[in-house]
Amino acid sequence: MLAYPARLDLAQTPTPFYALDRFRASLQDQGLSVPRLWIKRDDLTGCLTSGNKVRKLEFLMADAKQKGCTAIITSGGVQSNHCRAVAVLGAQLGFKVHLLLRLDRDPDPVGNLLLDQLLGAEISLYSKDQFKQLDQLFSHWQQKYSDQAVSSYCIPTGGSNAIGIWGYIAASEELQKDFIREQINPSRIIHATGSGGTQAGLTLGCHMLGMDTRVEGYAVCDNAAYFEIKIKRDISDWSAEYASAVNIDQLVIKTNDQYIGPDYAVAEPAVYQMIKRLALTEGVILDQTYTGKAFYGMVEDIKQGRFCNETDIVFVHTGGLFGLLAQQDLLNC
Ligand SMILES: Cc1ncc(COP(=O)(O)O)c(C=O)c1O
Repeated sequence: MLAYPARLDLAQTPTPFYALDRFRASLQDQGLSVPRLWIKRDDLTGCLTSGNKVRKLEFLMADAKQKGCTAIITSGGVQSNHCRAVAVLGAQLGFKVHLLLRLDRDPDPVGNLLLDQLLGAEISLYSKDQFKQLDQLFSHWQQKYSDQAVSSYCIPTGGSNAIGIWGYIAASEELQKDFIREQINPSRIIHATGSGGTQAGLTLGCHMLGMDTRVEGYAVCDNAAYFEIKIKRDISDWSAEYASAVNIDQLVIKTNDQYIGPDYAVAEPAVYQMIKRLALTEGVILDQTYTGKAFYGMVEDIKQGRFCNETDIVFVHTGGLFGLLAQQDLLNC
């Protein structure tokens, strides 16, 4: 049993875990050799708090409470799922929430941004250039709150830091139970990686639990070299904080950066086709920024025979539905 820090019970877990048999059959009908495909439905961690973020926020929000903070400052893209989850939980738990949002695109009040506004979060919008000084923006607002005698708690983009890592260490334990129940020993866990926290937690969790399942993050923005540095740094902070004897050099940080596409939050038509195909065969909705790109990449790799010697692989669905709803023009339904 791992010794977890303070945690709030916020996520609806365990999330469902099952095989995508109809989707797999549709690939086999094309003559492809396809391992059994399993899905972990972390898009169902809660309606408004849906996705991977709430698992991290169970620990981050508990820490904010313990430290006596009453305001939370966090950051992300204008359609950030993480920021929306913080806005929801802030309203639920009584924190003031201040979101520093990067203008990746036109800030139409739709999708996550609409919810952020509804939930009463204070929003400051910044250009991509201004966002390069994100540390200074955090310091600026923290100082402002401090001047008003308000104690604020800063959560980095995506909630990916030493404390947030615990969320996907806990999810690794849940996955291990799923594997035992289904009597499988998957060779690989695949998921979308953006700020690296999910990948860090799963990689560390599987390692500490002695699971021989490789974790592979499919990048949606930065390249593999970036994730190697970012994830190792976060894990090393985690290790220093929680005095674990984990040998970081033994961890394999595996990132696939072949399917990022044109840009962060911009996807090729083939990704939208894949979103529709999974929706039609399984009733599962992916998004264009994260899960759609990762799932598309996984299927391309299956087509290229990359996993032909593997029997079971797992896809972690990390959410993103509200971001997709801000893209109806591109869905062309
Ligand atoms: C829906 C969704 N999936 C995946 C990710 C990537 O997770 P992480 O930031 O932990 O890498 C994010 C956030 O960045 C997300 O919102």
